[in-house]
Amino acid sequence: MKILAIHGSPRTIRSTTRKLAGFVLEGAAEAGAKTELIDLADFHVTPCTACEACLLNGICVNDDDVPSLLIRMQEADGIIFGSPVYIDNISGQMKVFIDRLADAIHYQVLAGKFGCSVATTYESGGDDTVSYLNHVLNYLGVISVGGISVATGGITETVDAIKPAAKALGKKLAGAVMHGFSDPAQEAILAGNRAYFQTIVKENREFRPEEYERWVRMRWIR
Ligand SMILES: Cc1cc2nc3c(=O)[nH]c(=O)nc-3n(C[C@H](O)[C@H](O)[C@H](O)COP(=O)(O)O)c2cc1C
Repeated sequence: MKILAIHGSPRTIRSTTRKLAGFVLEGAAEAGAKTELIDLADFHVTPCTACEACLLNGICVNDDDVPSLLIRMQEADGIIFGSPVYIDNISGQMKVFIDRLADAIHYQVLAGKFGCSVATTYESGGDDTVSYLNHVLNYLGVISVGGISVATGGITETVDAIKPAAKALGKKLAGAVMHGFSDPAQEAILAGNRAYFQTIVKENREFRPEEYERWVRMRWIR
């Protein structure tokens, strides 16, 4: 079992969000998971220019680190998204990365995985940011087991008090991977997304036949 955390703070190893995601990974590791933490800011992620070239084959015209990051996500059983709150939302680094996952969302290449989200903030926007990250996980076909946001008031040690809850979240995520986790409300959202995205998969059947066949095999196309 592998659990991967990706966080979008440019402060990398000094990041409070990274620390919080690390606590979640610690809990997952104690439950038997192999863990990996990615500082997104250390990777080359080019913003999407809406050229639509990836529609043809899923491959971006930009030669950067996103394909290798996606492979690491595909190899993981559990995915943790983390972001600092920037103007009551995720950081630009995180948003640029998520925009580049549009093709992975359309074709649901991460479906069947479990995840959770974390955020840190000075004061505002933490819960909304966690909700948004969990919403993105759902778009990717990933069921979220929950999330944690921490308002530090500028005292980064505040996050240490949350360590037990963060570790419990990591254990819950590992438990979902090992034993399953059912959430009818999220399952309905995922089914609705697939019903919507199947139009794209059908339209592109001629030049993405393998994806079309996979969707038929998964019974996502009727
Ligand atoms: C550009 C920028 C925007 C921010 N916007 C907010 C905000 O809207 N609300 C808030 O309470 N804190 C805001 N903060 C504070 C950060 O959310 C907070 O310091 C966070 O814990 C940083 O996490 P990190 O150490 O992982 O980067 C902002 C910080 C920066 C640099």
